[in-house]
Amino acid sequence: MEERVVSSEATAFDEGLELSLRPQNLAQYIGQQKVKDNLKIFIEAAKMREESLDHVLLYGPPGLGKTTLAAVIANEMGTNIKMTSGPAIERPGDLAAILSSLEPGDVLFIDEIHRLPRAIEEVLYPAMEDFCLDIVVGKGPEARSIRLDLPPFTLVGATTRAGALSAPLRDRFGVLLRLDYYDEYSLAEIVCRSAELFDVVIDQNAAGELARRSRGTPRIANRLLKRVRDYAQVIGDGVISHFLSQDALERLQVDPLGLDHIDHKLIVTMIERFRGGPVGLDTIAASIGEESTTIEDVYEPYLMQIGFIQRTPRGRIVTSLAYSHFGYEKTQES
Ligand SMILES: Nc1ncnc2c1ncn2[C@@H]1O[C@H](COP(=O)(O)OP(=O)(O)O)[C@@H](O)[C@H]1O
Ligand SMILES: [Mg+2]
Repeated sequence: MEERVVSSEATAFDEGLELSLRPQNLAQYIGQQKVKDNLKIFIEAAKMREESLDHVLLYGPPGLGKTTLAAVIANEMGTNIKMTSGPAIERPGDLAAILSSLEPGDVLFIDEIHRLPRAIEEVLYPAMEDFCLDIVVGKGPEARSIRLDLPPFTLVGATTRAGALSAPLRDRFGVLLRLDYYDEYSLAEIVCRSAELFDVVIDQNAAGELARRSRGTPRIANRLLKRVRDYAQVIGDGVISHFLSQDALERLQVDPLGLDHIDHKLIVTMIERFRGGPVGLDTIAASIGEESTTIEDVYEPYLMQIGFIQRTPRGRIVTSLAYSHFGYEKTQES
């Protein structure tokens, strides 16, 4: 897979950047008002009762602030957070070790929780439900199960695919929060906040321009800001003006809707070779030389979000919105 400036997945390049830009508390966490309102109440209530917060499941596309929110929750509760991920936990013993190292009230964050193996999920059930750990000691007929108490803790799980979570696991979360793509206004605010942390001056219109091209995703907004800041320093006078932002984004080949050459290739192929569809995912994949799953998980979601592609029982179709964006006439018979 090619590296894209508009990818919503974190790259090695983003790591240091994201750490320095991460909001620490709910007040700094921009947008997602409904999620924040709900969380505030649950956190307040848990604190009043001096209990740990209910287990929280965060779901939504990459780059929208799930990991950030997990850390914010721990900060707001005034507790520590331990971070791990589904694929990182290979054996039940790994999870047992993590669980038994928790202090009362701690947050355990499991990223990509849908990738937790089934055998390990089963260790999690009694831990989530009764704060205890069942471990088997000995082998064969000698084997017996002993039950260890755990301190009360809060599991925060994050996933991009809530549908891939097993029902028994999903049912054990008391709070389910879905993060949605951000509106332009919130993204512009995020860009301005990050610019301040970077100590770079940005014009309101330039912030709006970056926001519109960030595909509803804070991670992309921050990445674009960083790239545009480089242009401002090298080509301009260090200030990000509206004109400079447009020029820089054009050079980065990010169009006014945040689409890049890959989106372009995908849509244009569907229009030119398949008359805009319906065309099956595998056929599209073969003709642009990509994996079907990459198209489905990475390329397609944003194109569907902005109404450029629709899913039908007979395959994908390109909408008239996309035809006109890319400068094509939609013929009647297709
Ligand atoms: N609500 C927000 N307000 C400000 N910045 C945000 C917000 N959500 C995410 N970000 C920024 O976007 C980056 C990516 O967020 P992250 O939590 O890693 O996303 P996810 O875990 O959902 O992939 C963070 O480093 C942070 O700087
Ligand atoms: Mg994350």
